Amino acid sequence: MSFCIAIDGPAAAGKGTISKAVAQHFGFAHLDTGLLYRATGAKTFEGLSPIEAAQTLTAQDLERDDLRSADAGQAASRVAAEPDVREALVDFQQAFARREGGAVLDGRDIGTVICPDAEVKLYVIASDEVRARRRHKELVEKGEEITFEEVLDDLRERDERDAARATAPLKPADDAVVIDTTSMSIEQAVAKVIELIEAKLG
Ligand code: DC
Repeated sequence: MSFCIAIDGPAAAGKGTISKAVAQHFGFAHLDTGLLYRATGAKTFEGLSPIEAAQTLTAQDLERDDLRSADAGQAASRVAAEPDVREALVDFQQAFARREGGAVLDGRDIGTVICPDAEVKLYVIASDEVRARRRHKELVEKGEEITFEEVLDDLRERDERDAARATAPLKPADDAVVIDTTSMSIEQAVAKVIELIEAKLG
């Protein structure tokens, strides 16, 4: 049986945390598609063109230590605006979405482009300030020297670029359920999402 849960939304809205918890709850596989773009972006630091980087992506590239940095996030958002880069990453994501046993994919275009027939589509949002506070805490805990304002600017810049691009822009699918996590705890958000999915699973 395949069952695809698509979780999209802007940067640091809680997609990753929710996706991991949901995948674990249902025993589904999880793919953080942002990592594909982050790894592609990070490979351009070494002089590869974005399309070369995307076409030669390996599992090892996804394990680099620097992928969670703000720089890798910006590089990801830039390469992600290139249609040929997105095209190079489609087959892998679609095969993952339809694997046996169920899959959770989080990103920007899962419900709109990668898996338009997903059984469950969510669009997770939160206020800019809350998202920046959460991401700032994460980055500081990892040892990155960055201020709250820098994180806020970084998220806004990426969201604007991700939403403005012509190919697969950041936007909710028409049939996505929007979940605003601004004043929710992680536990509350996860519980709500599990409830929604259980209703779909029947
Ligand atoms: O989810 P994230 O912050 O790790 O994603 C990093 C960047 O990658 C994001 O700014 C836009 C891009 N991205 C995308 O264009 N499509 C996806 N499905 C996932 C990420």
